[in-house]
Amino acid sequence: MKRYGLIGLKLGHSFSKDHFTKVFRKAGLKDHRYDLFELADIAEFPVLLKKYPDLRGLNVTVPYKEAVIPFLDELDPLAAAVGAVNTIVIKDGLTKGYNTDVAGFRKLITPLVDTLRDPGSDIKARALVLGSGGASRAVAFVLRELGIRFRIVSRSRERGDLTWDLIDNTVFRVCRLVINTTPIGMYPNAEEAPPLPYTALTAKHTLVDLVYNPKETVFLHYGEDHGARTIGGLGMLKAQADEAWKIWQNAG
Ligand SMILES: NC(=O)c1ccc[n+]([C@@H]2O[C@H](COP(=O)([O-])OP(=O)(O)OC[C@H]3O[C@@H](n4cnc5c(N)ncnc54)[C@H](OP(=O)(O)O)[C@@H]3O)[C@@H](O)[C@H]2O)c1
Repeated sequence: MKRYGLIGLKLGHSFSKDHFTKVFRKAGLKDHRYDLFELADIAEFPVLLKKYPDLRGLNVTVPYKEAVIPFLDELDPLAAAVGAVNTIVIKDGLTKGYNTDVAGFRKLITPLVDTLRDPGSDIKARALVLGSGGASRAVAFVLRELGIRFRIVSRSRERGDLTWDLIDNTVFRVCRLVINTTPIGMYPNAEEAPPLPYTALTAKHTLVDLVYNPKETVFLHYGEDHGARTIGGLGMLKAQADEAWKIWQNAG
């Protein structure tokens, strides 16, 4: 048996098991399976590896994308540069960490780049990145790559550029791309939305939510109400999963 799976704190929201089970079935891989492993603490990671010696690969989700790094034998250079791991290859008893959120977010944002600046202007749009965790690191990496200036919004002064209370209409006027990388609004708390001055949104704003369950979050609804362009997290989710599958296949 070649076993794959997902590690995270709470996995009731996961799309990965269904997704990879379908991928394996479509490819006729009857000896492959995908399981969900809820870990109460990342210190349980080595215990999991011992318990399932047939594990070949793992995805990593909230809140362990950074915390898993010290437990790995090796890091792919991209994952090292980003500082977060969402895909692990397990081969010959060794673990290597990768980051496929970068490829996923790049696929989501690249087609939009030209539309983010005013027609006839060379000034690139500025972005507001909500949250400072693992997904935020991948988003920040891609924004830097594309030359889009951004500010990180965090609950803590140390982890971000701005705290939530500082987001006012002026910040919203300057930052017309707003990317939610927090789990706020994710199932089962689907009625929640990041605390922002939504009335300052205009048709010139683009709101991206990495949350994919529900497909249309309250954050995106507020954007739509003010004429903003809105993009959910499902496309990125599929793109990062495709990339993870490529990595696992190449690892043999
Ligand atoms: N669509 C996709 O492909 C995709 C890919 C990756 C992640 N995601 C989604 O993105 C979300 C974050 O994932 P992640 O792995 O980055 O999680 P994470 O490492 O736990 O980081 C989330 C960050 O959000 C902020 N945060 C958490 N709870 C908050 C709250 N109640 N209020 C305000 N801020 C809060 C925290 O930043 P501060 O401590 O700085 O406040 C935290 O570091 C999840 O919903 C995940 O499913 C989607």
